[in-house]
Amino acid sequence: MVMRSPTLNVMANAALKAARGLIRDFGEVEQLQVSIKGPGEFVSTADLKADRTLRTELARARPGYALLFEESGETPGSDPRHRWIVDPLDGTTNFLHGIPHFAISIALERDGEIVAGLVYEPTRDEMYSAEKGLGAYVNDRRLRVSARRRLGEAVIGTGMPFGDRADQPGYIATLGAIMGATSGVRRMGSAALDLAYVAAGRYDGFWEFGLAPWDIAAGILLVREAGGFVSDLAGGHEMMTTGDVLAANDHLHLPLAALIREALRGGPATR
Ligand code: IPD
Ligand code: CA
Ligand code: CA
Repeated sequence: MVMRSPTLNVMANAALKAARGLIRDFGEVEQLQVSIKGPGEFVSTADLKADRTLRTELARARPGYALLFEESGETPGSDPRHRWIVDPLDGTTNFLHGIPHFAISIALERDGEIVAGLVYEPTRDEMYSAEKGLGAYVNDRRLRVSARRRLGEAVIGTGMPFGDRADQPGYIATLGAIMGATSGVRRMGSAALDLAYVAAGRYDGFWEFGLAPWDIAAGILLVREAGGFVSDLAGGHEMMTTGDVLAANDHLHLPLAALIREALRGGPATR
């Protein structure tokens, strides 16, 4: 039995409580009230309830921490060092279609750096967690990214732009390049779980553009603590500000980054 730190305990308890509501709502999904935030972007009473539960639980356990929540926005705290970054329901489109693939994502930032991350998948009861320097776990099992070295054998996760999201031709060029070079691409609909699956070695890599901080904050730490690499498109570490993410094991990160760069430039990978 792995001992969780007090911080991870707080995160796990909050996630479990919010997950109970999500599972209840998932069972009666046709009764949920749904409104449109933007083209192809929906918010339901399930998102809002989970947001409220997580907010209450995290604020009660750690009064004074700042909050950045997808649905309820940014709240400054009296403690200038700490901030919770939370997506109460990642995979809303799946949820609303009755597809059982969605998660809660909670990250803790200290002095601008993510120090703890938790992604909980209620339908599989899989809790992914990591603390900086202490490794990544799913439930009690230690995680390690995949060891695959050949792109041709790799399965890569992605997220596709939808609605009016920018640069669809650029994305399609990268998709063409990666489809052609690997064993296959998966689009499962939750960026937080996509990153958790890279950490777990299920995917050999993942890329997506234009994500929000709450989609990726916890997942980035999971991948790093499982021995993987995460970068933005330029190979730097501005994922939280650019929203662009490439995650993979150390053998595949460079070749994937090269494919994406060439595809975006209209280079050989797309011809
Ligand atoms: C979405 C999911 C999806 C990704 C979108 C996100 P939401 O989050 O992570 O996989 O492709 O870009 O917005 O709206 O379900 O919380
Ligand atoms: Ca999300
Ligand atoms: Ca969400």
